[in-house]
Amino acid sequence: MSDPVSAIVYGLPPAELADIPEGAAQVSPLIPGSARLEDVPPDSLAEAVLLAPPGTIERRYALALALRALRPGGRLVALAPKDRGGSRLGKELAGFGCVVAEEARRHHRICVLDRPKAPAGLATALEEGGPRHIDNLALCTQPGVFSWDRLDPGSALLLSVLPRLAGRGADLGCGLGLLARAVLACEAVADLLLVDIDRRAVEMARRNVADPRARFAWADLRGPVADLARLDFVVMNPPFHDGGAEDRALGQGFIARAAEALRPGGALWLTANAHLPYERALAERFGSVTLRASEGGYKVYEARR
Ligand SMILES: C[S@@+](CC[C@H](N)C(=O)[O-])C[C@H]1O[C@@H](n2cnc3c(N)ncnc32)[C@H](O)[C@@H]1O
Repeated sequence: MSDPVSAIVYGLPPAELADIPEGAAQVSPLIPGSARLEDVPPDSLAEAVLLAPPGTIERRYALALALRALRPGGRLVALAPKDRGGSRLGKELAGFGCVVAEEARRHHRICVLDRPKAPAGLATALEEGGPRHIDNLALCTQPGVFSWDRLDPGSALLLSVLPRLAGRGADLGCGLGLLARAVLACEAVADLLLVDIDRRAVEMARRNVADPRARFAWADLRGPVADLARLDFVVMNPPFHDGGAEDRALGQGFIARAAEALRPGGALWLTANAHLPYERALAERFGSVTLRASEGGYKVYEARR
């Protein structure tokens, strides 16, 4: 972080449930441009407010990072929806040696505490939630990233039918970089832009895709992204969840972004859960749409502009 900060906020806690300290630096890995909580010097913060993430390992990692960054006596407010980790928050914080005041409001659990002098178990939580190489994927990965410890079946289906691609392309919502690695195995690919909203995914993809033809962007594809133009191809397994709820508009937005990014005749290769209604969005924006695979509850389309 360039300027020392005295307070941080992780995510976007509902305003009626937590006051955000003035000047707090945003540290969510899911908000492009945010600071890294990993880089906040230990024992430096007066206040931290966390909308704790839903995955257990990911949440314990974020809580441990916040406790490490707070100075002794510094104030932590951690909250989460009850059914998305909130009901376990108090116990998890007590496990770090914290004395927690907990309240329930609007389906959330809100925990408030002052950082103890020597919180317990931070090193273990940081190790469990940090980046690592895993053999089953043969990739670098981190809990919290999409499908962080196994190959997603939709991505596997796309990989099984992906043809040899050529020219300039993009991997939208690149995750760990699985699709990108297959694309870059094609010698005729000149350039590939990997884009994801999750900083951890982009960091892992950088490690996993060590190829001079690859470029990386930590960006939200719901808005415009530089250099996404006149492409020969796009590959993607679009997201369909936002903040835990199914959000079909997100995948449809990815399709619109891909269509804008492709040159006439350029190809989109898309994999999705079979139940997702992407056919209309594809038909509206592409000249031809062909189902290339359908298996195990997933479908793969090739759509040409
Ligand atoms: C279904 S995963 C696919 C990941 C990877 N391509 C794979 O096949 O394993 C979708 C990815 O889109 C990313 N994503 C979600 N919303 C996004 C947004 N608004 N802008 C950019 N990326 C987003 C997620 O972080 C996730 O990595």
